[in-house]
Amino acid sequence: MDRSLNPYNPGAGLRPPALVGREAEIEAFDATVARTRLHMPNRGMVLSGLRGVGKTVLLNDLRGRAEQMGWFVAAIEGQRGEQGEDAVRRKLGRELLIAGRQLNRRGISKRLRTALGSITSFSVGVTGISLDVSAASGRADSGDLETDIGELVEDLAEALKEKGLAFALFIDEMQDLDQPTLSALLAAQHEAGQRERPFYIIGAGLPSLPAVLSEARSYAERLFDYRRIGALPNEVARKALREPAKKYGSDYEPGALDLLVDAAEGYPYFLQEYGRAIWDIAPNTPFTCDDAAAAVAYGLARLDEGFFRARWDRATPAERRLLHAMAQDDGAASNTTSVAERLGKKLSGIGPARAHLISKGLIYAPDHGMVAYTVPGMAPFIRRQHEAAASGKGA
Ligand SMILES: Nc1ncnc2c1ncn2[C@@H]1O[C@H](COP(=O)(O)OP(=O)(O)O)[C@@H](O)[C@H]1O
Ligand SMILES: [Mg+2]
Repeated sequence: MDRSLNPYNPGAGLRPPALVGREAEIEAFDATVARTRLHMPNRGMVLSGLRGVGKTVLLNDLRGRAEQMGWFVAAIEGQRGEQGEDAVRRKLGRELLIAGRQLNRRGISKRLRTALGSITSFSVGVTGISLDVSAASGRADSGDLETDIGELVEDLAEALKEKGLAFALFIDEMQDLDQPTLSALLAAQHEAGQRERPFYIIGAGLPSLPAVLSEARSYAERLFDYRRIGALPNEVARKALREPAKKYGSDYEPGALDLLVDAAEGYPYFLQEYGRAIWDIAPNTPFTCDDAAAAVAYGLARLDEGFFRARWDRATPAERRLLHAMAQDDGAASNTTSVAERLGKKLSGIGPARAHLISKGLIYAPDHGMVAYTVPGMAPFIRRQHEAAASGKGA
């Protein structure tokens, strides 16, 4: 097929040609928008799941919806090892200023204008962007993050409420936010909920995110509509492959579709990679089982060289040994004591490697004393690496 028309889109945060299987989350968000217009209370939303399931794409889609409704929207991303709350504050400040500039047209309410003053106060330290509104003295300028975020949210949300709008803060990789920022944001969400102010955090992150939030604030459990984002069920996965092809007058033989969906196990990233592979490989439409078998081999090689390899290369030899020891559990969570035993070490002996792998985002702790890969398909990948090494084919 003509490669230049290939509709599939494997890659972090890249919008798929057909965003399927996320209707429930989108409907829930649309309901929040509708309720906000009627001044009815709502909760924020937290999307959690492994890497490559489509959280970022969904988050961006919801963000687009919020923007279309005229909401005040800011987006940030958690990052481990960042210089703490000051850096996040500047990043958030910049986002608020940009959103504020878009809002700052003639005819905004007096209250919104005042809220823009609070943004200016909050964003002191951000250079190069300004709002043309002088800082609101005594609002959001104490230097204490929790107080300032609280005041900022209050001023903005109260002003937006008059218009049936809301302030939405989208946070990707939320498990990686620093503790002070996380606590401050959760406190602001809590306060907003109690006072029925339209402020919503829409977060996305690893499966451990709900636990991370509860640990930061015990009441976090009640703050959000928690949604697990995972592999797509068979019928939906087929649609993810078939719809884009049909748009270009192509199609799959049913058996070909089965082969790709099975190989991808319904995981969105893998579906895109296999879809891209079969499009490039197939000489004609409809795509046949032969095409699909070749696409699985080719797509898997690409995943090994890209999606998996990028992660493997970030691990040190000691960390790789730990990853390898985990592979015995075949993708299910591993007990850290058993992993240590497999390596002939004490539990404390694997502590540093475990901590580094978590901070590199390669594993996470689904429960106390447990670790799991953050990407699906890691265990078979590691076995492929070792087989290749054993047969002298590199790595
Ligand atoms: N609902 C979906 N249907 C089909 N493909 C999807 C869907 N959601 C995401 N994808 C694809 O999956 C890949 C990973 O998406 P991304 O949002 O980066 O995942 P995550 O943030 O969970 O790691 C991208 O290539 C994207 O196009
Ligand atoms: Mg993501």
